[in-house]
Amino acid sequence: MSRPERFAKLNFAPRHVLITGASGGLGKALACHYAQPAVQLTLWGRNESRLQAVADQCRARGSTVEIHSLALTDIDNGVSLLEACDDARPVDLLILNAGVSDIRPEGALTETVDAVREAALVNYAAPVTLATAAAARMAPRRYGRIAFIGSVAAHHDLPFASAYSSSKAGLSRFSTCLHAAMAPLGVGVTLVEPGYIDTAMSRRLDGARPFLISAEDAASRIAGAVAVNRAVLVFPRVFLVLKFLSALVPRGIAHRLLRLAEVKQRGQ
Ligand SMILES: NC(=O)c1ccc[n+]([C@@H]2O[C@H](COP(=O)([O-])OP(=O)(O)OC[C@H]3O[C@@H](n4cnc5c(N)ncnc54)[C@H](OP(=O)(O)O)[C@@H]3O)[C@@H](O)[C@H]2O)c1
Repeated sequence: MSRPERFAKLNFAPRHVLITGASGGLGKALACHYAQPAVQLTLWGRNESRLQAVADQCRARGSTVEIHSLALTDIDNGVSLLEACDDARPVDLLILNAGVSDIRPEGALTETVDAVREAALVNYAAPVTLATAAAARMAPRRYGRIAFIGSVAAHHDLPFASAYSSSKAGLSRFSTCLHAAMAPLGVGVTLVEPGYIDTAMSRRLDGARPFLISAEDAASRIAGAVAVNRAVLVFPRVFLVLKFLSALVPRGIAHRLLRLAEVKQRGQ
């Protein structure tokens, strides 16, 4: 292990944490997890009143909190804002958590063009662009962490959620590439691939949510992985077993089985 790597591993205590998608769900749980005196939180989301409510909870725990309401589909605006936040106070930890699910509407032959475009932008293009902008600031400082919130959906060819599955798969590869590139420069990069978390996103699914965990439990596992600069965290671990088992199944058979899975989403 090089000196910068060792330094990054042993001395990580973030004083400025920026979280996207912090207006609810996992992002809110992450914000509350990191909220404490001497920690500044910068929380991004679209819904200003929900962001404000999360900020109030975090301030009650002693944090200084700034909120920004923006749509990540406007990537240039996101990059400018990230740079402005970093100019004001260097960002030690960037958590790219915002995401949208995309399930083919019931009875439709394909996913919708709008949903596919949105998933591509919010789940892949925005986080990889923002991560690059952050890494360009952190690397010269030889300090910082970036965490990507992917999904175990990246492990399989989901016929009913091609945009979600593939955007998260692209995110996974980007994250491990960036981990490899940044390790000698003292910047940690962690890919998080969760199974079902009890948030608004998974509650919209019409069906079982096996091995469901709470957003608070997920947040503390993620913080633990980030603290030790773990490259990849998959939880619950049963999904890691499923990933390796599915790699043994011939693709044609796997696709036939996956087509049988009737996953529906409410509110489409
Ligand atoms: N829940 C699960 O079972 C599960 C499983 C695996 C992975 N994940 C991943 O975990 C992450 C968090 O999901 P969650 O479960 O907490 O979902 P959630 O409750 O639906 O929260 C999603 C967050 O992303 C923000 N967001 C969505 N579209 C946006 C856009 N265009 N611009 C800016 N912000 C946007 C939302 O902001 P507003 O509400 O303010 O619009 C919200 O804060 C996502 O990346 C998701 O893919 C979730």
